[in-house]
Amino acid sequence: MKKVLIVGASGHGGVVLDCILKNREYSVLGFLDSFKEKGLKHNGHQILGCEKELPNLIKAHNIYGVVVAIGNNWIRKNMVNKLMKLVPGIKFISVIHPNAVIGKRVKIGMGVVIMPGAIVSSNSTIGDFCILNTNSSLGHEGFMEDYSSISSGVCAGSNLKLGKFSAISLGANVIDNITIGHNSIVGAGSLVMDNVIRNTVVYGTPARFVRLRNPGDPYLYGDKPSKNSDRLIFKK
Ligand SMILES: CC(C)(COP(=O)(O)OP(=O)(O)OC[C@H]1O[C@@H](n2cnc3c(N)ncnc32)[C@H](O)[C@@H]1OP(=O)(O)O)[C@@H](O)C(=O)NCCC(=O)NCCS
Repeated sequence: MKKVLIVGASGHGGVVLDCILKNREYSVLGFLDSFKEKGLKHNGHQILGCEKELPNLIKAHNIYGVVVAIGNNWIRKNMVNKLMKLVPGIKFISVIHPNAVIGKRVKIGMGVVIMPGAIVSSNSTIGDFCILNTNSSLGHEGFMEDYSSISSGVCAGSNLKLGKFSAISLGANVIDNITIGHNSIVGAGSLVMDNVIRNTVVYGTPARFVRLRNPGDPYLYGDKPSKNSDRLIFKK
């Protein structure tokens, strides 16, 4: 089996590992992570150091390719750029769980991760380095630009156009024929009825404009300073 490395030893990295192991196409040598201690184990696989170790590891272990398992779209892009500089021509594998359903005439770019239960309907195009998380559904003729993502439980109608670096968060629904510009975030549980302009945060049912955002602004639990696990719901 061809050997690969997973870049990013997070929870997401662990799920990407499961997808690879289920497929039995590649074996996983271990993880690379910029912040975790070399030698520790993550989901039974060793952390082999940070991304700077990549050129040596490729030579020493005949590595076929890597997958970048970083959930944040912007941070994933920065890591991909770093890896391309460190190892020009490096191969980025796409990881598709065997329980994902991929329709006919679907195009899938490189470095894409498609999780269990995800459904990509016919004639859709998935750009490079996109993530389709667990149980998400992309309607027919959908188009996800590079580095965009749909979270678990997202249900997108047909003809969605999702801009570069944009993310549709947990459980949101998007009616058909919607265009979402670059760098925009649709909040969890939203119902998107109208197009979304670039560089914005929208949420609610129906989704409404909340604020402008800069590319790279945090939007996930793990990259926000205040964690939602600290919050309490009170009776009113
Ligand atoms: C888009 C998002 C980042 C918005 O976060 P935010 O603007 O920073 O919001 P805050 O957490 O500061 O909350 C501000 C207010 O908006 C409300 N709010 C935040 N997100 C909301 C949403 N999706 N729908 C409705 N209300 C929301 C909060 O309850 C809070 O209300 P309050 O002021 O009455 O307390 C967040 O909704 C989201 O979806 N995060 C991504 C979750 C996700 O999909 N994770 C991926 C797991 S794979």
